[in-house]
Amino acid sequence: MGSLPQRGLNEKLAEILAIAQKMNSERELGPLLDLIAREATTLLDCDRASIFLLDRERGELWSKVALGSDDILRFDATAGIAGRAVMTGEAVNVMDAYSDPRFYTGIDDQTGYRTRNVLAVAVRNQADEIIGAFEVLNKRIGVFTARDEEALLALASHAANAIETAQLIGELRRSQDELAQQNANLMREVESKYTSHGIIGAGPKIQQVVRLIERIRDSVVNVLITGESGTGKELTAKAIHYTSPRARKPFVALNCAALPETLVESELFGIEKGVATGVNPRVGHFQKADGGTLFLDEIGDLSLTAQAKILRVLQERVVEKVGGRAPVPVDVRLLAATNRDLEAEIAKGSFREDLYYRIKVIHIHLPPLRDIREEVPVLANHFLNEYCRETGRDGLEFAPAVLRKLTASPWPGNVRQLRNEVMRLAACARGRMILEEDLWEGLPGPREAASTGLGAFAAAPVMVKDARPKSLKDAIEQLEREMIGEALASTKNNQQQAARMLGLSRQGLINKMKRYELG
Ligand SMILES: Nc1ncnc2c1ncn2[C@@H]1O[C@H](COP(=O)(O)OP(=O)(O)O)[C@@H](O)[C@H]1O
Ligand SMILES: [Mg+2]
Repeated sequence: MGSLPQRGLNEKLAEILAIAQKMNSERELGPLLDLIAREATTLLDCDRASIFLLDRERGELWSKVALGSDDILRFDATAGIAGRAVMTGEAVNVMDAYSDPRFYTGIDDQTGYRTRNVLAVAVRNQADEIIGAFEVLNKRIGVFTARDEEALLALASHAANAIETAQLIGELRRSQDELAQQNANLMREVESKYTSHGIIGAGPKIQQVVRLIERIRDSVVNVLITGESGTGKELTAKAIHYTSPRARKPFVALNCAALPETLVESELFGIEKGVATGVNPRVGHFQKADGGTLFLDEIGDLSLTAQAKILRVLQERVVEKVGGRAPVPVDVRLLAATNRDLEAEIAKGSFREDLYYRIKVIHIHLPPLRDIREEVPVLANHFLNEYCRETGRDGLEFAPAVLRKLTASPWPGNVRQLRNEVMRLAACARGRMILEEDLWEGLPGPREAASTGLGAFAAAPVMVKDARPKSLKDAIEQLEREMIGEALASTKNNQQQAARMLGLSRQGLINKMKRYELG
């Protein structure tokens, strides 16, 4: 140090600023505390320095035992010289430690160090809250002075900033790690749900689908999935995505039928910012799916204009945003689904043939449930197990008669309707066994399906068994409707055969179908 007091002070300040800079570039709490301690011993020409941080919840001060060590020392926040500085907010300068009653010998006992003199100041953050104490031990020559006290205070206030930043970064990092962990867990869950495909069915028709998915798992060909509503098209699309090398990239689904013509372009391709005031920029579905899979559901419902635009994206692998200047490259695998007969649409001129061949490199057709009745019991049990797992209720079972009845039902809403029905039955089940009488009211007859549309059953309020038909006439009507529905379903709508099964003439059957609005 210089002999002129002023020069000494300026030098100290410059040194403190240099240390502050070093501290601010250290983002890890452990190494930061080491750095602060090291610099303080040089600055104050002493033997040791420690930062004690206040753990308000536990009412404790803690610090690292020694430079470079990860061992932590903890003690009561009111104990010792450091505790004193924290409690009073004042600097404490002890010239002879062992003759001062405030000195807490416990730390020397633990560390085997012999403290002669101590200077401690409170560490305050920018909000002027005390977050700990800064303590230096054993001045090399003499004892700590008022000048040392000033220097230590200045250093402490810089240290406080750096410490709080490092703590914040540590917390952020920890919560980021936690999120990453959760994400990985969810990913595994999703994967395990779909790597077994989640597609249930032991018969040849479903197994053929499962095998096909396995065969194309490593390729990126476009796939067209056809089938009635509720037959598992979306499930199949997810299975394809999650078994492919794209599994960790996004799976983005868009229902084209629900898209008004005016929104098609902006939904698919996005809107550049600054197109017009009042128009928000938007990322299109193609871009959202970049690197992953875009599932265009009900693709048969797209207008010819929209079809032409999608064809262009598939050919050129770029999208043009609404109001965008430069085309944006995208890498998207397209899976498309429809319940329409696209070849018939092509014949009518409402679907582009060139697009059809682009999206139908592989074609998967999912059969309606009435064509794979043998799968009904397996599926029904699968959904019942799913219900039990999700609600924590266990051991629900179908009576054999119930399974027989479910198997014979027409299921116009296919697997989706079966699933809804099983969930409803499970929710209403009074005992462990789901009985035929539980089924009576709710079992979908073809009339509801015909007159209220496929989704209606899903939304139908839960029916309880007590909601019986009001009169004998109603009951007979209901029975007739059911029996006709079953007969039609089991004969694949062959009216002649169904009439014979029911003991009616063909005309008699047709009359009843008219009356009940069936078929
Ligand atoms: N083979 C199957 N195995 C298991 N669940 C199925 C199967 N087929 C369909 N599902 C279930 O039925 C419901 C409807 O399927 P979804 O894929 O949405 O049909 P779609 O897209 O053809 O309308 C979903 O809950 C789906 O998980
Ligand atoms: Mg669907």
